[in-house]
Amino acid sequence: MIKFLLLALGSSLMVMAADGEAIFKQKGCTSCHRPDMDTVGPSLKKIAQAYAGKREDLIKFLKGQGEAIVDPAKASVMKMQLARIKDLSDEEFAALADYILKFK
Ligand code: HEC
Repeated sequence: MIKFLLLALGSSLMVMAADGEAIFKQKGCTSCHRPDMDTVGPSLKKIAQAYAGKREDLIKFLKGQGEAIVDPAKASVMKMQLARIKDLSDEEFAALADYILKFK
């Protein structure tokens, strides 16, 4: 019984505080995005600067409802990656956006 309660508590805490960094790592985003250095994809710093003050636009992009503004020539590469996160909740999309925006 206690075990069950702890499990229930644990999962509701997870819903309350979606962890953008954990999502970013779990979904494999780190394989193309480094904090300060462009690799296959632009650095997180570059993305955060492009989206400074545009949190809602970043969330839209992550949800597949926006257009690429950082490196539109490579947009098709990134668009394919959005399939990895299409099932996230609104809280998780927001946490992911906030995580990226911190690199500014
Ligand atoms: C296979 C490599 C690759 C992976 C994996 C990848 N990306 Fe990207 N990403 C790119 C490339 C290339 C661009 C540049 C094109 C663009 O700007 O859309 C990009 C651009 C972006 C942008 C800027 C979009 C814009 O407006 O231009 C965001 C935000 C982003 N990625 C988030 C993520 C997240 C979150 C994940 C993990 C779910 C991820 N990426 C996984 C290659 C990748």
